[in-house]
Amino acid sequence: MHLLCEIEKRTDMSQPNDPTQTSAQDGAAAPYGGVPPAGGPARRRKVTVRTIADMRQAGEKISMLTAYDATFAAAADAAGIDSLLVGDSLGMVCQGRTSTVGVSLEDIAYHTQCVSRGLEKSNGAALLVADLPFGSYHRSADQAMASSIRLMQAGAHMVKLEGGGWTTETVRFLVERGIPVCGHLGLTPQTVSALGGYRVQGRDEDGAAKLLRDAGELDQAGASMLVLEMIPARLAAELTGAMNSCATIGIGAGSGTDGQVLVMHDMLGLNIGKMPRFVRNFADGSNGVQASFAAYARAVKDGSFPVDAQHAW
Ligand code: KIV
Repeated sequence: MHLLCEIEKRTDMSQPNDPTQTSAQDGAAAPYGGVPPAGGPARRRKVTVRTIADMRQAGEKISMLTAYDATFAAAADAAGIDSLLVGDSLGMVCQGRTSTVGVSLEDIAYHTQCVSRGLEKSNGAALLVADLPFGSYHRSADQAMASSIRLMQAGAHMVKLEGGGWTTETVRFLVERGIPVCGHLGLTPQTVSALGGYRVQGRDEDGAAKLLRDAGELDQAGASMLVLEMIPARLAAELTGAMNSCATIGIGAGSGTDGQVLVMHDMLGLNIGKMPRFVRNFADGSNGVQASFAAYARAVKDGSFPVDAQHAW
């Protein structure tokens, strides 16, 4: 817990031209918690697109967690999480909305900057992925490019977009221009209205075949990662085996994917409503937030989370 409680003691955090930062000359430590100091404990090597590909190749499970601000980002990174996702789930967990549809590009850019600063100040290693929100990539590849530039300039290392088929050419367009991309198939929350609710996808033969086809196309188009949300475990494992180079990251997709992602508030047991089946509360029995993050990272790495019979379909 020291990460979240310790008063910031470093003096190198102050930005000369930023009046909101406490200056070193003030002689006072900045209040309100703060991110852990850079260069403290042994630091990991930066996680890059290449690292992700190597982990997939080596069969090392990839841990991903959502993050929305500097302090939690630094704590998750220090706990050994491989990748942080500034998800449009922030619409629910930060903004109190009922869906992700109202989240704007500027909302994501703002939270990406916050997370990026947390990683920078703590000399963090995690790969930072930012969601392209609803409406920010749907019109054209040019629009997707402009939105991606905004998020990359806010500090993202990769952008994530939802959907298959129509997104393939957009993914190719971005990847060819140097923007690493993570896809998202299965339950795609931005189109929850069209899907008729938050329900498991790919249960019937046609749905499963479409998911396999869409995933193959995203892989071919150069997507580095692919989130698979709420699809049957057996299908997710088959799809993962069929990928050429793209790493699959499951959420409610069973244990056969290359990695796992959870929404931070859910795995800390802070979900106000009914906890989704695919979540484990890692704060239960853990000593504080960072220990919960570390328990999650460990459970993903050693394969003890998720348990198919319990967390998947
Ligand atoms: O927005 C988000 O947090 C996500 C994850 C649930 C994968 O897309």
